Amino acid sequence: MKVKKAVIPAAGLGTRFLPSTKAQPKEMLNIFDKPSIQYIVEEAVEAGIEDILIILGRNKKSIEDHFDKSYELEDKLKSKGKKELLEGVEKISNLGNIHYIRQKEPLGLGHAIYCAKAFVGNEPFAVMLGDDIVKSKKPCIKQLIEKYEEYNSTIIGVQEVEKSQVDKYGIVKGEKINERLYKVEDLVEKPKVKEAPSNIAILGRYVISPEIFPILQHTKPGAGNEIQLTDGLKELARRRNVYSYVFEGKRYDVGNKLGFLEATVEFALDDKELGSTFKKYLKNLIK
Ligand code: G1P
Repeated sequence: MKVKKAVIPAAGLGTRFLPSTKAQPKEMLNIFDKPSIQYIVEEAVEAGIEDILIILGRNKKSIEDHFDKSYELEDKLKSKGKKELLEGVEKISNLGNIHYIRQKEPLGLGHAIYCAKAFVGNEPFAVMLGDDIVKSKKPCIKQLIEKYEEYNSTIIGVQEVEKSQVDKYGIVKGEKINERLYKVEDLVEKPKVKEAPSNIAILGRYVISPEIFPILQHTKPGAGNEIQLTDGLKELARRRNVYSYVFEGKRYDVGNKLGFLEATVEFALDDKELGSTFKKYLKNLIK
């Protein structure tokens, strides 16, 4: 079955970025020249996703405004003949069909995804977390969609992380099928470094079968006393084949300050207009 829908949870409070996130969503913080959530939406659209559900919490209105049509601004840009800027702005409001729903209480990622049940219906769907931005030749979620279509089973996007970092992630234990694909045997959300079954971490991209919903409905709070998607997927892996796929690409953890800076600097260096000047500036700075 084709994967046409994506769910982007964006209900978190963004406490790691206070005070910047006191009055604005962390998903709207700028990475080089656009808000971080736009990278995620663009990745979904490039991968052929048609409908995107963004799960919001309170104080997230500016995300809706960002992807909405901006008549006054478009009018002004048109009358001033600013063609390129106009195209850029119009492009944002034409990025697929974006839907919104509110997660009324922050009960965890598993609960946020459960809120997408009616939107998803009985189809496989992508889940894309905004704290992970991936720079790759083929959009990261497209790589997972292709594997879903090949195996007709839930696929979890993973990469190796430093052993000392495993307590920040969902960790996968799997049986190697080939270079990039593992059959999931166990999943643990944020294990202690000494107890982790591996250093293969879930990095914010999934393609999941709708069979997850009746499981999430009964998933009890786990790590951090939150309803964890990882725990739901662990139960799914008991019932059906679930695979993890080591996706190609560089992943930035924009949910912490260092990762956010790395992404900002590297995306600026990649920019056609500013890249080389910025590189010179950096070289001089650190001489
Ligand atoms: C979430 C997931 C975790 C995953 C991580 C990737 O955790 O629960 O399994 O490894 O995203 O970024 P969070 O970072 O939201 O605590």
